[in-house]
Amino acid sequence: MPSLAELLNQAVLPDSPTARLDAELLLAFALGKPRSYLRTWPEHEPSAEQLSAFAALLERRRAGEPVAYILGHQGFWSLDLEVAPHTLIPRPDTELLVETALQLAPATPLRVLDLGTGTGAIALALASERGGWKVTGVDRILDAVELAERNRQRLKLGNAEFRQSSWFDVLAGERFGMILSNPPYIAADDRHLGEGDVRFEPMSALVAGADGLDDIRQIVAQAPQHLETGGWLLLEHGYDQAETVRALLGATGFSAVESRRDLGGHQRISLGQWTA
Ligand SMILES: C[S@@+](CC[C@H](N)C(=O)[O-])C[C@H]1O[C@@H](n2cnc3c(N)ncnc32)[C@H](O)[C@@H]1O
Repeated sequence: MPSLAELLNQAVLPDSPTARLDAELLLAFALGKPRSYLRTWPEHEPSAEQLSAFAALLERRRAGEPVAYILGHQGFWSLDLEVAPHTLIPRPDTELLVETALQLAPATPLRVLDLGTGTGAIALALASERGGWKVTGVDRILDAVELAERNRQRLKLGNAEFRQSSWFDVLAGERFGMILSNPPYIAADDRHLGEGDVRFEPMSALVAGADGLDDIRQIVAQAPQHLETGGWLLLEHGYDQAETVRALLGATGFSAVESRRDLGGHQRISLGQWTA
């Protein structure tokens, strides 16, 4: 039998900056061990069952399936989240939304809404950082709401809750001190939809009409009826949508409108305050 070190060196995966990491994550998963085990026991020879399990995992990855879907979980902020093909795999980019929310709003009690919560990533990150906030996450897809609720229970975050809703539909009469969303924002004919991990993610999490802005327009238009005076709306969007989103926020009557840049220097979130 080959050793763990030999298996990793022989693993054939599509050329990518994460190929070695992917192979390590898949091998550790096949062994049922943490990744550190591979470095601690490089001479270990796995069983025949473990070998064939690893081969099957490599095959799935070679077919393009995202590692997070194969493993069934993904790190986001300080949390380990269950992920599933009903919704988006949380991205590191979205941590900018969490970071900005924590900077903007006081740590005093606050009602917070996460629209299109998916795995619950944003809602649960905020709930974990601010015990005094009550965070509601909604998603149109029931499977996503159930996934977010499983994540909440596993993380034991009693100050978050999840409901099924198309944007604000079930929230009539409810107001929040902060509303956040990482909504679908890709144009229906965007060529990136045929590339990489997004090929395996659902269109319901990605696509928003011909220009990618249908959902953002809807959220910006309806948010004022659900924000307290002085409350904030924070939106993640595409790297080339910041100017349009700022214009939308301004035209709707938001003040203190601005965009913030991600680590790559792209304006990936825009925000505004409702003072009317
Ligand atoms: C880009 S994903 C973001 C998921 C998660 N918030 C994150 O950042 O990883 C967008 C999410 O919005 C949800 N969604 C799409 N249309 C919706 C609607 N009309 N109402 C509520 N949620 C919606 C999708 O099901 C998906 O989970």
